[in-house]
Amino acid sequence: MEFQVIRHGSVDSTSERAFAALRDGNARHGDVHVADEQTAGRGRQGRRWHSPRAGGLYASVVLLPSVPFSAAGLTIAAGLAVHDAVVRLGIGHAALDWPNDVVVRARPATTDPRGTRGLDAKIAGILVETRGLDPHAPHYVIGIGLNVAQSAFPAELSAERAVTSLHLEGCTVTRETALAAVLEALPARLDSIRSSARELARDYLAATMLAGARVRVRTGECELTGRIDTLDIRSGLVIVDADGRARTLALEVVREIASI
Ligand code: BTN
Repeated sequence: MEFQVIRHGSVDSTSERAFAALRDGNARHGDVHVADEQTAGRGRQGRRWHSPRAGGLYASVVLLPSVPFSAAGLTIAAGLAVHDAVVRLGIGHAALDWPNDVVVRARPATTDPRGTRGLDAKIAGILVETRGLDPHAPHYVIGIGLNVAQSAFPAELSAERAVTSLHLEGCTVTRETALAAVLEALPARLDSIRSSARELARDYLAATMLAGARVRVRTGECELTGRIDTLDIRSGLVIVDADGRARTLALEVVREIASI
C-alpha cells in the first residue's frame, strides 16, 4: 500500500480535512493528512482531542477499499497497528484497551516517573469514521492521535484519565519517526482483516492482555461478568459466566471491557 502524506500547519481536524477532500472528489486511497496542530481535534464519543502544536502526531488516513471492511475488524486492525508502532518505538509495556486506546500499563508508584498514580496511561487514541457509507464505493478515515513530545498535559486532561507520551516514557523521537512507524505497521494489519482474521483476533487479545481473564463487559443495555473465552472478528466475543454458560456478544455492542 502506498501512502501520500499531505502536510498541514494548523487545521481544525485532520479527519475533517480528509472528509473535505472526499467531499470534493480529490481524495485518494492512502492519503494521510498530518497537522502540526489541531484547533478542533475530535476524540471518540464526542470528546475533544487536545492537539497542541508540536506535541503529538495528528494523522488521518483515507481508505477507499473496493469492498467494505467489517467495522469491528477495522477498529481492531487500526488499534493493533498503532500498538505495533508504539512497541517498535521501544515501549514494550504498551497495551490496548477496548476498543483501541493504546495505553502504557501501570508501574508501581515508586518507579513511575510520569506521576500517573499507578494507573494505566493513555498514549494514543484512534477514531475510525465513515460518513454515509456507500457499499459500492466504501470510504473510511482512520484518525490517529499519538502523544509524542509532550512533557506535561493540562490538569483537566490528567484529571479525566492518566495520560503519557513517548517522550515521558523515555522514547524521544520526532513526530516524523512516529508517523513512519505507524505507516509501516498499518498495511499488514489492514490486510489481515480479510486474509487472517483469526490471527488478528489472537494478536488483539494478546495486546489487551485479556485472554482468559475475568472481566466485566458493558454493552449498550447491560453489564455482565465472566471469563473471556474467545474473540472472533465476525461472530464476536465469547464470555463464560460463573455457571459455565457461554454468551456471544457482537463486537459492535461492546462498550467497555474491564479486567476484574
Ligand atoms: C480517542 O478518543 O481516543 C480518539 C482520538 C483520535 C484523535 C485523532 S488526532 C487525528 C485525527 N483528527 C481528529 O480530529 N481526531 C483524530
